[in-house]
Amino acid sequence: MQTENSCIVIFGASGDLTHRKLIPALYNLFKIGRLGENFSVLGVARSELNDETFRTKMREALIKNEDTTPETLDEFCHHLYYQAVNTADADDYGKLVPRLDELHDKYQTCGNTLYYMSTPPSLYGVIPECLAAHGLNTEEYGWKRIIVEKPFGYDEKTAQVLDVQIHRFFEEHQIYRIDHYLGKETVQNLLVLRFSNGWFEPLWNRNFIDYVEITGAESIGVEERGGYYDGSGAMRDMFQNHLLQVLAMVAMEPPAIINADSMRDEVAKVMHCLRPLTQEDVEHNLVLGQYSAGEVNGNIVKGYLEEKGVPADSHTETYMALRCEIENWRWAGVPFYVRTGKRLPARVTEIVIHFKTTPHPVFSQNAPENKLIIRIQPDEGISMRFGLKKPGAGFEAKEVSMDFRYADLAGAQVLTAYERLLLDAMKGDATLFARTDAVHAAWKFVQPILDYKANGGRIHEYEAGTWGPVAADKLIARQGKVWRKPSGLMKKKV
Ligand code: BG6
Repeated sequence: MQTENSCIVIFGASGDLTHRKLIPALYNLFKIGRLGENFSVLGVARSELNDETFRTKMREALIKNEDTTPETLDEFCHHLYYQAVNTADADDYGKLVPRLDELHDKYQTCGNTLYYMSTPPSLYGVIPECLAAHGLNTEEYGWKRIIVEKPFGYDEKTAQVLDVQIHRFFEEHQIYRIDHYLGKETVQNLLVLRFSNGWFEPLWNRNFIDYVEITGAESIGVEERGGYYDGSGAMRDMFQNHLLQVLAMVAMEPPAIINADSMRDEVAKVMHCLRPLTQEDVEHNLVLGQYSAGEVNGNIVKGYLEEKGVPADSHTETYMALRCEIENWRWAGVPFYVRTGKRLPARVTEIVIHFKTTPHPVFSQNAPENKLIIRIQPDEGISMRFGLKKPGAGFEAKEVSMDFRYADLAGAQVLTAYERLLLDAMKGDATLFARTDAVHAAWKFVQPILDYKANGGRIHEYEAGTWGPVAADKLIARQGKVWRKPSGLMKKKV
C-alpha cells in the first residue's frame, strides 16, 4: 500500500543521520513502490546548499551504501530539494512558506507535511515555535506531523519542559517520538509471538518464568560521536529508551486491539509498574562501567578516555547492567537483568526468557534449563532450548534447540527500522512511536541512576573486547546465574 501524497521536511539535512539513515530509507521505500510518485523531500539546514548540491551529496551517500541503479537514483533524486534556513531565527523560517507552497502544488500533496527534527536536541523546542510563527503547524490545509529524534529530554524535568514547548504548537496526535528499536521487525515479532500463540500465554508469568535477560551489546566504540556520547552515556543513549521499550514489549499485557492507543496504554502501564529504584538498588543492583584499551575482533582499540571528543577525566559510563523488577500480578518477584555496553565482543541484541526448572530432578541434577532466546539482531530469529535424552545408555539429558531464522523465510521483504517508522508516520500510525506518558515514566524510573551518576557513583573499568566489568558477573551470580554469552543463535546439531 502506498502512502498519502506528502512533503517530508528534514531539519538537520546536512547532518549524519540524514545521509546515513533517512535518505537511504526513503530511497528504498521509493524503490519498492511504497512512496509512489507524489512526494517530495525538502532538506533544511544552515549550510548554504541548493537543490543541486544537496542532490549530489545524497546521491554520493546512496551510491556508497545502498544497492542502487542509475535510473531509480535519478528518478528519486528529482524529488529532493533544499532550503537554507538559519534554524535559530524565527523570521528565517518564512522562507519555507513559498517553498512548501511550490512543492505541494507541484506534487499535489494537499498541504500534507511531515517534519523530521534530526537536529541537535537544543532545537527540538525551537523548531515547532518557529514553524507556528508562519502558520506551518496548522492542519487547515493538509495534515502536519512532527517526528522528534531521541533523546527526548535529558532527564525527567527537561523532558517535561520539552513536552510543554512542543505541545504549545502541536497536539499529541501530531507528535511522533521516534525510537528506532520499535521499528525493528524482530521487536514487533515479539508481540506476534506472544499474542498470536496460545501456548505462551499460560507460561508467560511469574509462575513459570525464573528470570529474564535483555542484552544490547555493541562491539563498536563511540566512533566520531565522543562529544555527544560523553554527555549521555549508556544509560541515556540505550537504556532509558531502546532497552526499556524492549522490556515493555516482553512484559506488557495483551492489548485488546492493535492500535496506537491500546498498545501504548499497555507499554505505559509497564513503565509505571517498574519498581522504583531505592538507594540500595542503585548501590547493589546497578553496575556502571567504562572500557579501557583492548582487542575487539582481532583489532587493538583505544580506551574510552582516549577517544576523540572525550575529556581525559570523563566519568561517563559506556556499560550498564541493572537488575530490576516489575510490580504487578504477572511479574512480581521475577528479576529482569538488563545490560548494554560498547566495545563488547559482539554486536548482539537479544532477550532470553529463562523458565523455571522441574520441581524435582528425576533424571539428572544438571538437567538443562528451558529457555527461549529471541534474537533481535543480527542473525534474527528465535531459539527454544530444552532437554532431551542423550542417545545411549542411561537417562542423561542434553540441551537441544528448535530454531527459527528470519533469513530462512523465502521472499520476505523486511523493512529496516527507519523505513518502517517513516512509512508509519506518513500513514498517521503512531503505534510504534513512544507516547508522552511512557517517556516520562521511563525518565522517572531512571532518575535515581542519573542522581547516582551526578554524585560521582562508581564506574568500573572493563577491558575492550570483554563482556563488561566483573562486578556485572557478580550481580547476576547473586542469584546463582551467569550472563548468557551470546554466540551464534543456532546450536550445532546434536
Ligand atoms: C542509537 C545510539 O540510538 O542506537 C547508538 O545512539 C547505538 O549509540 C545505536 O549505537 C544502536 O542501534 P542499532 O540499531 O545499531 O542497535
